[in-house]
Amino acid sequence: MPSSCKSIVLAQRPNDHIEPDTFRVEESSVPSEASLKDGEVLFQSNYLSLDPAMRGWLNDTRSYIPPVKIGAVMRGNGVGTIIASKSAKFRAGEEVFAMCGWSEMAVLKEDVVEKLGLPSNGTMTDSLGVLGMTGLTAYFGILNVGKVKKGDFVVVSGAAGATGSVVGQIAKLKGATVLGIAGSDEKCKWLVNELGFDDALNYKDSNFAKSFRAATKQLIDVFFDNVGDEILDLALGRAKAHSTFVMCGGISQYNTKNAQGPKNYLMIVSMRIRMEGFIVFDFEKEYPAARKELAQWLSEGKIKRQETVIKGGITKMPEALRALYDGVNTGMFCTWSLGTSANNVKANC
Ligand SMILES: NC(=O)c1ccc[n+]([C@@H]2O[C@H](COP(=O)([O-])OP(=O)(O)OC[C@H]3O[C@@H](n4cnc5c(N)ncnc54)[C@H](OP(=O)(O)O)[C@@H]3O)[C@@H](O)[C@H]2O)c1
Repeated sequence: MPSSCKSIVLAQRPNDHIEPDTFRVEESSVPSEASLKDGEVLFQSNYLSLDPAMRGWLNDTRSYIPPVKIGAVMRGNGVGTIIASKSAKFRAGEEVFAMCGWSEMAVLKEDVVEKLGLPSNGTMTDSLGVLGMTGLTAYFGILNVGKVKKGDFVVVSGAAGATGSVVGQIAKLKGATVLGIAGSDEKCKWLVNELGFDDALNYKDSNFAKSFRAATKQLIDVFFDNVGDEILDLALGRAKAHSTFVMCGGISQYNTKNAQGPKNYLMIVSMRIRMEGFIVFDFEKEYPAARKELAQWLSEGKIKRQETVIKGGITKMPEALRALYDGVNTGMFCTWSLGTSANNVKANC
């Protein structure tokens, strides 16, 4: 076991984009087993999740969760191994999910640690993706908020990401027709050829607006928004009367202080649109049942996933978070916390 470990702390709040001086690396000695109190574990992270919402946690504004304090370890989820335990719930050597922050090693209270509970074809990182927060967000967003049903025409923005890719596949399982919007031709091909979306459009194409109008002639029953901006405006313009807009996120606006809302908002009135925001935590009591169903779909091959893993260790986290907004990931995005290679790799599973 190493004698020291690294953490990434918030050094200063960014104005818009994450800058090299937004975070700093801190090194400390690894806590000893003897220093653990009852109910605590010593956790070593193997993979740390990268999530768009992290940018919002750096702003000192009112939100669904308090901002990360200056000088505090950056908030985040990870999967890893229990190195030592004074908890009756976890034993040394066990692989777990934890709200561990951006730390190679951390002393954690047992209530922020969870067993993985993976299906036979599951991998550790599924607990950060399809069976983790993004999979649950997709599940509750499209089923509980979107109330998708057979025959619906569903459009998903951010469709090749961790959340969007699962949203579209669940909608297909429920008998909907699904159009995905993503940022490259390669991502669009993956959505249609691998995940079974009916159609996909690259929003970076110069004729995107025209293609979008052509692809949505039948008008939208459910729009699942991860992005905001022009795509949301276009979708409002193609909304069916009494359609539902599931407001999951607006990644296009996260790196700016003055987020812009839709210009086309009067369509909400004329088309009597139900536009509803949600936070996955609202459904916490229902997580076990949702995870069970997602795990079932995963084991039956009804839901597929891909992940992008950045190697190079925990110090890559700030740079990787910045790159998330440039669309470097397909599916779930994480950093291999204990890696030593300087190469970035893309891993498909
Ligand atoms: N409400 C909740 O409880 C909840 C929980 C989790 C996540 N979320 C939200 O869900 C959304 C997706 O999160 P995720 O974790 O699944 O991330 P993700 O989709 O895996 O990754 C982000 C993707 O967004 C796309 N993107 C970035 N900037 C964009 C822009 N300006 N316009 C269009 N697309 C852009 C990029 O793909 P392209 O190559 O396609 O551009 C990027 O790969 C985010 O808005 C997040 O905040 C909400």
